[in-house]
Amino acid sequence: MHNRIESIQSHFTSELTTSSTLADLEIVRIKYLGRQGILVDLMTELKMLSHDDKKIFGPLCNKLKADFQELHQAKLNQLYQEEQNLLAQKAAAFDVSIEKKSLQGSLHPYTHITRELEDIFISMGFAIADGPELETEFHNFTALNIPQDHPARSESDTFWLPDLHRLLRTQTSTVQIRAMKKNTPPIAIACPGRVYRNEATDASHDFMFMQIECLYIDKQASVANLLAVIKEFLQKLFGKELKIRVRPGFFPFVEPGLEVDAECPFCTVGCSTCKHTRWIELMGAGIVHPNVLIHCGIDPKIYTGFAFGSGLTRLAMLKYHISDIRMIHSGKINFLRQF
Ligand code: FA5
Repeated sequence: MHNRIESIQSHFTSELTTSSTLADLEIVRIKYLGRQGILVDLMTELKMLSHDDKKIFGPLCNKLKADFQELHQAKLNQLYQEEQNLLAQKAAAFDVSIEKKSLQGSLHPYTHITRELEDIFISMGFAIADGPELETEFHNFTALNIPQDHPARSESDTFWLPDLHRLLRTQTSTVQIRAMKKNTPPIAIACPGRVYRNEATDASHDFMFMQIECLYIDKQASVANLLAVIKEFLQKLFGKELKIRVRPGFFPFVEPGLEVDAECPFCTVGCSTCKHTRWIELMGAGIVHPNVLIHCGIDPKIYTGFAFGSGLTRLAMLKYHISDIRMIHSGKINFLRQF
């Protein structure tokens, strides 16, 4: 019993010494002085001793308990005081005059350029129109004179819904159809919006990007009118004349069809953004095909019109000197903070 008491004493002393927080100390208290602690066990063992041994070890055990309680209380006072000092130090170190800067967001480049383009087209007499991103096959292809076997209709180019009748629109030309079906000419609309294509990404191509479509239908509309509107809106957007080139292009919903490119502002000899051609493809355009007018209930013998669909994302890249399209949806704070 003697050895046992000595062993308990030495363990208690060492555990008490190494307790550095009030929580540590509480663990030691429960272990030794708790209701199911080591000292309670010791007292139970004491009851089993002979009368003479009880006379010897009884007072020793009582003293042990009293010592433990006293040591525990002393350590408790010490740790409590230390914690209070620490809190007081922290409070003194807290400088209430330090200005806490909250993170402030900024508008996305898409929001900036969309607002600017809307203002430009409104100033030129166009109304702003909108359409759904989840479209029907009719609005995205059939009404636009895109034949059944056109490659854009394949699953490798377009994100179809499982019913294979609805899709994520691949072009904002869908809004032309909706506008022509809803209104009678003259019609002059501009519609910015998101489009989706099932294609690999690179510095100038994304699977989700933005376009802005422009449609004008009246009794007279020519390629000259079309080019004048394109030049005017580009001039207003960039604040200077942008060098462009126009070449023939095929789109089933226009005849004749054109492609309009802008000179690459990122290089002088060719780079990955312009695919080393010095030109960036900006838009498709043309005179609305008579079949499209017929699909929308407009008489092609009376009315004609022009349309163009520009990569709004590409316009943003040119205007803000974004050399890689993938930055736009990267969510990178350093990139977004510039706008
Ligand atoms: C069209 O989408 C036609 N709807 C445009 C049009 C409208 C033609 C009206 C005639 C009349 P295209 O697939 O070429 O055409 O896309 C138009 C523009 O979107 C391109 O010139 C380019 O600037 C941009 N674009 C096309 N694919 C991507 C892509 N993957 N990532 C970013 N921009 C793209």
